[in-house]
Amino acid sequence: MLNIAIIGCGNMGLTYARSFLQYNLVSHDHLLLVARSEAHGQHLKALNLGKVASRIDDRLSESGVVVLAVKPQDFAALAPALQEALKPHHVVLSVMAGITLATLQEALGHEVVIRAMPNTPSQLGMGVTAFATTEAVNIHQIRMIDNLLNTTGRTLQLEDEHLLDAVTALSGSGPAYFFLFVKTLIETGRQMGLEDSVAAMLVKQTMLGSFHLMNQSPRALDDLIAAVTSKGGTTEAAFKVFKAGHLPETLHNGVIAARDRAAELSKGK
Ligand SMILES: NC(=O)c1ccc[n+]([C@@H]2O[C@H](COP(=O)([O-])OP(=O)(O)OC[C@H]3O[C@@H](n4cnc5c(N)ncnc54)[C@H](OP(=O)(O)O)[C@@H]3O)[C@@H](O)[C@H]2O)c1
Repeated sequence: MLNIAIIGCGNMGLTYARSFLQYNLVSHDHLLLVARSEAHGQHLKALNLGKVASRIDDRLSESGVVVLAVKPQDFAALAPALQEALKPHHVVLSVMAGITLATLQEALGHEVVIRAMPNTPSQLGMGVTAFATTEAVNIHQIRMIDNLLNTTGRTLQLEDEHLLDAVTALSGSGPAYFFLFVKTLIETGRQMGLEDSVAAMLVKQTMLGSFHLMNQSPRALDDLIAAVTSKGGTTEAAFKVFKAGHLPETLHNGVIAARDRAAELSKGK
């Protein structure tokens, strides 16, 4: 049974705690949740997911894996105490956006580090997480971390860490793009006279059905679009407006801007 410590038990940290427990990759007695205050420690104790520490202490050395899930801006304050507590056997898994492997290695004085980029559907086991590792991480450690991340959805190992910026722009930020799209459609439905709940049901069921159609159909996306777009019809009318408003280019440019911002954050800008 693995021994795991999770530092930073907010949304992501607790998602991992619950997912690891759910798949029996760790037991309550082998999971250490590290908070930064007594008050948050008390809150974590009440959740009864594992042992709780209100700061990094000696118990960290009992763990084999240390998951780092604090906000990127909180990392610098945490690094010195963590560096002191880390032992050569530790595998560090960071999910902090924009903190590179080189920065982690330097700030922690530790070689065996994995950097991952998950997304929010991980809470339901339907996320996707890409990760990159330092050269010091061996195949057994990669398999172990892959098994852990797999409890939250699908995983993908990248050879080139720089591609995590593109991953951040696509799948990390992706849920927000999707929610904006859904929200706009629901609001438009309401403005056209539909009740809010009716508009929401129509839009959400359309998204769900379209997703499965896309996933299960051998047809290309252009064919699926063409199948709904008859000449002189309603979809064509909508697409004319989308194209005139440069919707595809705007979407493209937004994703590129997210990628570029991720790259800037990685450089500490
Ligand atoms: N949410 C996402 O979609 C997503 C996706 C990919 C990656 N990430 C990454 O995941 C990380 C966590 O995000 P989140 O949304 O889970 O944030 P969050 O809900 O704010 O959780 C962060 C937690 O870290 C705790 N913390 C801060 N400093 C600490 C320290 N020194 N020792 C122990 N705990 C400490 C905070 O404690 P307090 O409660 O005391 O402030 C808070 O509970 C971020 O680095 C983010 O970049 C998030």
